[in-house]
Amino acid sequence: MSRKPAILFVCLGNICRSPLAEAAMRAEAERAGLDIEIDSAGTSDWHVGKPPDPRSVEVARAWGVDIAHSRARQVCEDDFRRFTHIYAMDDQNLADLRAIAPADATAETSLILDTIRGREGASVSDPYYDGEDQFEFTWQDVTTAARAIARRIAG
Ligand code: 4NP
Repeated sequence: MSRKPAILFVCLGNICRSPLAEAAMRAEAERAGLDIEIDSAGTSDWHVGKPPDPRSVEVARAWGVDIAHSRARQVCEDDFRRFTHIYAMDDQNLADLRAIAPADATAETSLILDTIRGREGASVSDPYYDGEDQFEFTWQDVTTAARAIARRIAG
């Protein structure tokens, strides 16, 4: 029997992109009636314990999702055994993940936009230093990917 899907979204700080990806995935999983585990983490420890960036909270709220309660954490070795899929937001996140993956990792690790036809190899741009508009683009990217992932799991 195959394992229950467990999906981890990873960015640098776990305060901008990956909390939005986690929220979008929860919304799509609920819509599709999927029983899956979903979480997010950062490659850095810079914001551990902090809530998401207010601009991420706001864009999620505008789309009817509350992420204010989530708290940043750093990705750890056990994540590579606990999750079946780890989706990195950008190339650097993916390289950082590959550098810390333990020898007995079972998770499939890839770029989140690889799940969208025509966007393979692309990165979800880091909105941290940009304006609020960029957070809307981030939401659109992670929502499109979450739909593709949900479709893939639903088979
Ligand atoms: P995230 O965005 O990786 O999408 O959470 C960032 C958050 C914080 C920083 C950079 C990117 N920072 O430099 O502190």
